[in-house]
Amino acid sequence: MLNRIVAITAIILSLGGLGADTIAKRTNLGASLYLVNRDYVLSQDYVPEDLVRPKVRTQYGNITMRAEAAQALEELFKAAKEEHGYVLEAVSGYRSYAKQKAIYNRKIKNTGSVEKAQLLVAPPGSSEHQLGLAMDIGRKGGTGLNAGFGKTKEGKWVAENVHRFGYIIRYKAEWTHITGYAYEPWHIRYVGKEHAEQIYRRDVPLEIYLEALTEAMLNQSLLGGIQP
Ligand code: DAL
Ligand code: ZN
Repeated sequence: MLNRIVAITAIILSLGGLGADTIAKRTNLGASLYLVNRDYVLSQDYVPEDLVRPKVRTQYGNITMRAEAAQALEELFKAAKEEHGYVLEAVSGYRSYAKQKAIYNRKIKNTGSVEKAQLLVAPPGSSEHQLGLAMDIGRKGGTGLNAGFGKTKEGKWVAENVHRFGYIIRYKAEWTHITGYAYEPWHIRYVGKEHAEQIYRRDVPLEIYLEALTEAMLNQSLLGGIQP
């Protein structure tokens, strides 16, 4: 299925260019709509160009992400506070290939199994954190990144509202067979408002949404609606 996405995408879009990662280009359907997962892996040296520090409360030191996503995160955190008094915290944003590798290896060691580790942490190159478009978030005073966040009032608000700011909940429990990952109510992924709204309404994982979008683009293209 995903092979088809990339094959069709390659037909539709002109993806030449220097200096950027091939996978990032091939799986980008425009704007912030990149697909990175265990099938589509970023190279070791892929680093987004416009990393900034979002001006939000953070749990740990130097947290960065891509500029557009950072601005949206600031708006999201502000709305949580202004609308409900919820205080959210950024926990983990952009992660380099090397950092992801260290986290992944540590998880294998802690769980004692590659299979268990792979449900929780993406192998190096296959994390959206390397794209600079994902942020792990928690609540002030929370107990770290765990499924319990989804049951808190802040977590419930996050699940129902992040699309208003261009983010999606990327790893729902019922999508594990497609995404390959366990439930992560804390991992939000920036795709832009228009697509986030669509994905929220359809309630599908990014992989399925991109397949549908690619089909629609191809149909339009075949009908002469858009130029490759
Ligand atoms: N925990 C998510 C899947 C990651 O490592 O990117
Ligand atoms: Zn994450």
